[in-house]
Amino acid sequence: MTTLALDTPVLARQYEDLSDKQYNHGKLLLGDLGLVHGQRVLDVGCGTGRLTEYAAGLVGEAGWVVGVDPLPLRLEIAKRRAAANLLFREGRSENLREFQAESFDAVFLNSVFHWLPEKAGSLAEAYRVLKTGGRLGISTASKERPHALEQVVRSVVERAPYDAYPVTSATTPYKVTSEELTALLEQAGFRVRSIEIRSFVDQFDTPATVIDFSRSSSFGNFLGALPDELRLTAIDEIKSELAKLRGPEGIVLTRNLIFAVAEKFDSSSTTRSIAS
Ligand SMILES: C[S@@+](CC[C@H](N)C(=O)[O-])C[C@H]1O[C@@H](n2cnc3c(N)ncnc32)[C@H](O)[C@@H]1O
Repeated sequence: MTTLALDTPVLARQYEDLSDKQYNHGKLLLGDLGLVHGQRVLDVGCGTGRLTEYAAGLVGEAGWVVGVDPLPLRLEIAKRRAAANLLFREGRSENLREFQAESFDAVFLNSVFHWLPEKAGSLAEAYRVLKTGGRLGISTASKERPHALEQVVRSVVERAPYDAYPVTSATTPYKVTSEELTALLEQAGFRVRSIEIRSFVDQFDTPATVIDFSRSSSFGNFLGALPDELRLTAIDEIKSELAKLRGPEGIVLTRNLIFAVAEKFDSSSTTRSIAS
């Protein structure tokens, strides 16, 4: 089970330093959303706010962007980003009540959805705060094509003594397939505009960098089901497995992410036009 109680100043700082991967695929997500000058945008699970700041640049001074995240240490870094059209708040995807209904042109969750154990409440909140015609963008780890790192981690945690613990997912815990995401979006009232899996080939210099990336991206939840002592030995074994993969280009691992863009449409107007 994921907890929000394991973040530390070191992990938050490492995330800021090591999150180029999320930042770069996040830019693709914002491209899919087609943000334009003057729009109001909500970044749910904004972390240290790098992508939020980038979004603020896209909407310009006539628009504004709010980032929300439940982790105070990540927000502390985010709040150092000064821009007149950029705001950060502590909050969770499943409770966006501080924002009025129909107040945003776009909402996005970049590398956040796979951390949410319960998806429907978060999608209902995104739907509520979006204006009619507004767009939701999601990038999330694919259940049908797990990251290469997942296989490496599994090869270790499925061995004794780690196999005595319920490591249900070796990396991101609450992945969905494209089909499941489509169904969730439609159940929340969205119309899916696009959904596809994109693959990213990542290069890491050392096994230790892979572990730092995983621990900071998971706000301390990496191998969280293992007791502290076993987690340390498992990490050593994972590092050995990663070292075996090292080639002239370093350690090369592929990530597969679902990118979805969905629109809030006015179902009552469709019903009306069918009825008339
Ligand atoms: C991998 S980071 C992604 C951060 C940022 N979106 C980015 O692209 O760099 C995952 C983020 O999800 C946030 N998160 C976890 N549970 C959440 C929830 N229930 N509501 C909102 N954000 C959540 C974490 O606090 C963390 O900052």
